[in-house]
Amino acid sequence: MDRIRLKDKEFELYIAEKEIKKAIERVARQIKKDIEGKNPLFIGVLNGAFMFIADVMHYLNGPYELTFARYSSYQGTDTSGMVNEIMPVKSDIRGRCVILLEDIIDTGFTMNYVMRKLRDGGASEVRLATMLYKPDALRHNVTPDYVGLEIANDFIVGYGLDYDELGRAYKDIYKIVES
Ligand code: IMP
Repeated sequence: MDRIRLKDKEFELYIAEKEIKKAIERVARQIKKDIEGKNPLFIGVLNGAFMFIADVMHYLNGPYELTFARYSSYQGTDTSGMVNEIMPVKSDIRGRCVILLEDIIDTGFTMNYVMRKLRDGGASEVRLATMLYKPDALRHNVTPDYVGLEIANDFIVGYGLDYDELGRAYKDIYKIVES
């Protein structure tokens, strides 16, 4: 499919599944190397990262602890200024090396808040792995440790990412066609 329509918006094919998988495998390989001999706690950030989380863990294929959290700070195609903890981290993070698995870093607002909260909560180390990164959109102090693909500042859907809850189930990534 070269084009899809979700509600009032038109999207065109941007990154094909093969390229996404290759990038995720590279990220997973780096993580695997860095966690050798450590006992990290992975935190998968729902909903957008569900495919990324599954792919990374599938590649790691080991005895790792994985939990999930959910935040919201995004509405439609615009980022609002509040982080809502819809599903906070329930595991004991004190003294743990924590690795966040996130779908995309846009302004960095969400991860700036979450990483600060985890550090304040006593995590010994907080790392961030993101499938996608929009460096031109960054407005907060966040430096991801692992990046799948850097992309331009366009609104995208697919591979877990949504537009008003639609589009998550596509295996490729599509970008918005501005009319
Ligand atoms: P940030 O706090 O501005 O970095 O936004 C992070 C969150 O906004 C991500 O976890 C996504 O859920 C959402 N988001 C950011 N950019 C996009 C996009 O292009 N498409 C869909 N969701 C996005």
